[in-house]
Amino acid sequence: MIETSRKLITLDGLRRDTLEALLNSAVRYLAPDAATAHRNRLAGEAVTLLFCEPSTRTRFSFELAARRLGADVLTLDEGTSSRTKGESLADTLATLAAMDARLAVVRHAEDGIMSRLAARMVPGTALICAGEGTRNHPTQGLLDALTIRRHRPDLSNLSVAIIGDIAHSRVARSTARALDTLGIGEVRLVGPRTFLPRDNEIPGRPMESLENGIRDADVVIALRIQRERMDGDECPDLETYRREYGLDATRLESLAGADTLLMHPGPVNWGVELDPGLKAWPHNLINEQIHNGVALRMAVLEWLAGDSHGFA
Ligand code: NCD
Repeated sequence: MIETSRKLITLDGLRRDTLEALLNSAVRYLAPDAATAHRNRLAGEAVTLLFCEPSTRTRFSFELAARRLGADVLTLDEGTSSRTKGESLADTLATLAAMDARLAVVRHAEDGIMSRLAARMVPGTALICAGEGTRNHPTQGLLDALTIRRHRPDLSNLSVAIIGDIAHSRVARSTARALDTLGIGEVRLVGPRTFLPRDNEIPGRPMESLENGIRDADVVIALRIQRERMDGDECPDLETYRREYGLDATRLESLAGADTLLMHPGPVNWGVELDPGLKAWPHNLINEQIHNGVALRMAVLEWLAGDSHGFA
């Protein structure tokens, strides 16, 4: 039973010990028996997935996470729901709360929607952001931090380069925030000028030069160009982008080093930000990020469902 309303809508303002507790909890769910061993933890709870934007890995991993904890899972199909009759998202959440479906996972294109929904939450429910416009993707930030920490436990000496369309990337914001809170050595934000952040909200050093940006980086996180969030004239020519900022094995090895960890939140546009040859990069962690996402989301659901479910 959730005692009061709880939410994870941003990583901004969360304390380091909270993030560390979540990552440590997720590690328990990485154990081989995790698919079956925790089926009673959220038994009797219902998790609703309200995805008002496309998603594959985030949606399925929340669904698997909820099922592996024994919760019922409800999936809203916007097109056939009362949303088409003008019902607001806040009213949809209240409808679900009336059925005792207390945990809602929401993805939406509109910046600012999560705090508006949070302000109207029914007591006893929980709200989880699964992607909000260009601003927040807290569980992706946490799973990226978890993935890095599994390979390089001491974050304090690491240089992480995030490369690409930072300006439109909620992943860049949340991942940089998670790493900063956890005491990362350095975050570099690398891309053409039009892709660099327009504010100082992302912790990290903006850099236009790819060579300088990835030189000796311990971790490189590539991003997709998010055309759906751009006005037509902002979008660069893909061939020019590939030539100037695309990564291949030769570039990665000669500039960053043979041990550099390669990450990407997905979906990858192979042949644009990453050369398909990098699928065979020895430290390609892209599938591991997806794998870790299920465990991390189990930890988040358990945390928000409340202490009575034994969050350590
Ligand atoms: C990202 C997203 O939706 O923000 N994908 C994801 O959740 N793993 C990144 C993207 O769409 O490029």
